[in-house]
Amino acid sequence: NKGNYEHYMQKEIHEQPESLKTTMRGRLIRGGSCKAKTVLLGGLKDHLKTIRRSRRIVFIGCGTSYNAALAARPILEELSGIPVTMEIASDLLDRQGPIYREDTAVFVSQSGETADTLLALEYALDNGALCVGITNTVGSAIARHTHCGVHINAGCEIGVASTKAYTSQIVVMAMLALAIGGDTISNQARREAIIDGLFDLPNKVREVLKLDQEMKDLASLLIAEQSLLVFGRGYNYATSLEGALKVKEVALMHSEGILAGEMKHGPLALVDETLPIVVIATRDTCFSKQQSVIQQLHARKGRLIVVCSKGDAAAVSSGGSCRVIEVPQVEDCLQPVVNIIPLQLLAYHLTVLRGFNVDQPRNLAKSVTTQ
Ligand code: UD1
Ligand code: F6R
Repeated sequence: NKGNYEHYMQKEIHEQPESLKTTMRGRLIRGGSCKAKTVLLGGLKDHLKTIRRSRRIVFIGCGTSYNAALAARPILEELSGIPVTMEIASDLLDRQGPIYREDTAVFVSQSGETADTLLALEYALDNGALCVGITNTVGSAIARHTHCGVHINAGCEIGVASTKAYTSQIVVMAMLALAIGGDTISNQARREAIIDGLFDLPNKVREVLKLDQEMKDLASLLIAEQSLLVFGRGYNYATSLEGALKVKEVALMHSEGILAGEMKHGPLALVDETLPIVVIATRDTCFSKQQSVIQQLHARKGRLIVVCSKGDAAAVSSGGSCRVIEVPQVEDCLQPVVNIIPLQLLAYHLTVLRGFNVDQPRNLAKSVTTQ
């Protein structure tokens, strides 16, 4: 049921304040005056000790689910102190990459039925790793075959392009980082700031959804383009990959997410006055580096669209002209949840304006059950 919306993808984008609330329901505990704020993931509580003892955490997934894990990687590394590596399921299988008994392998999948992810799960089980699932589908193959896990509870996702599942996956993995990370005095303030940030996240998402018309206007300017680049780094490297994936899969426009730190190692050669480039430059420890990337793109007369924190329009547009999209600032590790939303809206409007099928893009299926 699409309710008042024209398409499922549109409904699912706008549903995110509610889907995020459902994802967090019963899992965040605010505690009384002397009780610390904590996270309770029912499906993991008996396994946390084993996870904390593991030598490495390996995230495994495909497409958007892989991108969600990439967004959560920095906070998991920071709070757990355990090395975190990333595997695209098909690539792990192609290489028969090393997976050990001392590893915790985390399988991220909206559907819970993706063939590559399932085969990688069988492979990790054979190699003796502790296998954890993060899925939206109760009773799915991945939920059944993992040792333990967390349901993201985002509600059924019908549009082939994953939107609300992506933001709920990031939130679950941020909660996973809080659950694995020890509750030490030195990181107490950081943990509390993240938990407060999680409580307030649905409000911030509601606020960023007000950019709908602005993103539609931007889409109308990009409607005839051949290509769109998206630059991000740090917490928002994942935002650049995921934004580009949305644009290519539904709007059928070539789009590439690029790690901004790699700009000078090749992509800079593409920059001219015509190619549109989105730069994610919200406030975090990478901000000054992103400002210098913007300067260098300005110097080459790049056609920039900058996503920045509220109040930073002047700081990012000095040195050249660009279009600025201001988003509310949240705790750094949660910023990818806010930042992807204007790009989801852009991909949606571009698709509708270009006259393509937004809920069932050409050649794609919701659940990829073949290799
Ligand atoms: C569970 C209930 C929820 C109830 C809550 C009350 C289910 C599905 N969930 O939620 O309805 O409101 O208790 O406390 O009945 N699992 C895997 N692999 C996965 C995902 C999950 O093995 O990929 C396992 C978990 O380890 C757990 C079970 O499935 O044993 C349920 O997981 P989850 O729904 O996340 O647990 P709760 O949030 O505690
Ligand atoms: C993109 C998209 C795909 C899926 C991928 C994995 O919008 O939907 O990239 O993310 O096929 O699917 P799941 O998460 O079901 O394993």
